[in-house]
Amino acid sequence: MDKHLETRAMFAGYRPSDANMAVKPPMHPASTFVFPNARTGAAHMETAYGVEGAETPPEGFIYSRLGNPTVNMAEQRLAAWDDSEDAALFGSGMAAISTSLLAWSDADRPVWFVGPLYGGTHHFLEDVLPSMGREVVELDHLDQLNQTLEACGGKRPGIVYLETPANPTMQIQRIRTAGEWAAKHSTDDHRIVVMVDNTYLGPVLQRPLEEGADMVLYSATKYLGGHSDLIAGGASGKADIVAKVKEFRTFLGGTIDPWTAWMLARSMETLHVRVERQQNSTGTLLQHLREMCGPQAVKSAWAADLVQMGQDVTVAEQQQREGGAMIGLEVPGGREGAFAFLDALQVFKLAVSLGSTESLAEHPASMTHAGVPADVKARTGITEGFVRLSVGLEHPEDLIQDVTQAWKVAAQVANLTV
Ligand SMILES: Cc1ncc(COP(=O)(O)O)c(C=O)c1O
Repeated sequence: MDKHLETRAMFAGYRPSDANMAVKPPMHPASTFVFPNARTGAAHMETAYGVEGAETPPEGFIYSRLGNPTVNMAEQRLAAWDDSEDAALFGSGMAAISTSLLAWSDADRPVWFVGPLYGGTHHFLEDVLPSMGREVVELDHLDQLNQTLEACGGKRPGIVYLETPANPTMQIQRIRTAGEWAAKHSTDDHRIVVMVDNTYLGPVLQRPLEEGADMVLYSATKYLGGHSDLIAGGASGKADIVAKVKEFRTFLGGTIDPWTAWMLARSMETLHVRVERQQNSTGTLLQHLREMCGPQAVKSAWAADLVQMGQDVTVAEQQQREGGAMIGLEVPGGREGAFAFLDALQVFKLAVSLGSTESLAEHPASMTHAGVPADVKARTGITEGFVRLSVGLEHPEDLIQDVTQAWKVAAQVANLTV
């Protein structure tokens, strides 16, 4: 029987016959696993370390940094959501991103990225990777791929890295452009891997692998986890691409722990229901915000706002199922107005992070993107008046009332009338 995505993802990674017919999977906190004999133990360990002539070990677990039944189950669930060949889970989104970037770049394979990006990723690319001898090149737009190759004297990248829609300013990138370019310029001995951070929309609303990406990255702390009660990351994609990332994970050590993996697997069962409700409430809220604040004050990955932002809506139509539940709002009065707005909110919680059951609000310029250089903030639209909203599961009318009263407070501070 051909099953829909939601049905496949619900049961991925576990059958009741695996564990006493329990309807839900057990949690295996074990850090280590018993070898049936010394020869098998040696085969496992020598294979893990790539020792020449190692005997092929049977299926089985060794030590939970390398693999764990609960982690495997949750990884299969993420792979099911993405329809990917394999997935790897990590202790945070940054662990997934940094490990993947390290795995597929080296001195001869620079990282090319298109900004803007989440502040932590931007810092890792601009400060940490170069300090380790990796070359990193920023492109303003994906249509600069050919000219960048020429400017780099023909030196091809190892990775083309995108985030779409971008956190927090909602610029969108055409994934297919990166995928087609990478395929054209890859050779057997030099693979160009396209990585897409899909945290903002998640696998229900956007499917980068179907658009030509090789790997999708997630802060699973956000929509996949969805309840502000865990920190995790995910990397999902072609089996050989994920295999190398898992090898690096083994030695960098950023794997997820079994308890968090179990919680994440549980959360992924309700992913589509949460996202659909958040998406619907966002539609209602956006309409109100456009009327109250003026359309030019509102940013989102919804078509009406993308048009206003000068983005190519056909790209969104092609690669996004919907516009998601993240909103950017330009509040009058600069930082003072934005802070007044945030401090006045009563339903939205003033906190970083996103994609949770509760609605969240924050000030990117001084919070999530505090470390982004001023010129990059100016170029990408992270102004002092800009606030980021993540729409949760509260009643949409309460959210509308909340932003309305907070906007009035901010408008007073900015000496404006609503
Ligand atoms: C788009 C995006 N990618 C990656 C991350 C990093 O994830 P984590 O905080 O789980 O390490 C974040 C965190 O806010 C994010 O918003």
